[in-house]
Amino acid sequence: MPNVTIHPTGEVIHLDKGETVLSGLYKAGFAYTVGCKRGGCAICKVDCRDGEFTYDHPIADTVISEAEKTDGTCLSCRAVPVGDITIEMRGENVRLVNPFLRQINEKARLRAEALAAGTTTKE
Ligand code: FES
Repeated sequence: MPNVTIHPTGEVIHLDKGETVLSGLYKAGFAYTVGCKRGGCAICKVDCRDGEFTYDHPIADTVISEAEKTDGTCLSCRAVPVGDITIEMRGENVRLVNPFLRQINEKARLRAEALAAGTTTKE
């Protein structure tokens, strides 16, 4: 399952399979400026610096331009990482609003990594 690394802070967020970037960040206790959460307002754009993503729904040309489709622009409320990705916020950083959710996400990430490596972790 993919991880999202936030540049330049280095926060690593674990996503469930098929989960959008925005959903994963909020579920992990982080927040940043968002609007419609449906791919219609474009306020949730971030830059994908590394890795690939797809969209879970069609994205209108009025929201993502042709140039943005190839320059790493990522509509976070609709973007589903294909594997690990690195993103950079535009104009602000994510805010940790729920440290408890952050801890749960970190444990899930460590569990997934241990599972992938064939080892186990202590809880
Ligand atoms: S929040 Fe409106 S397009 Fe993502």
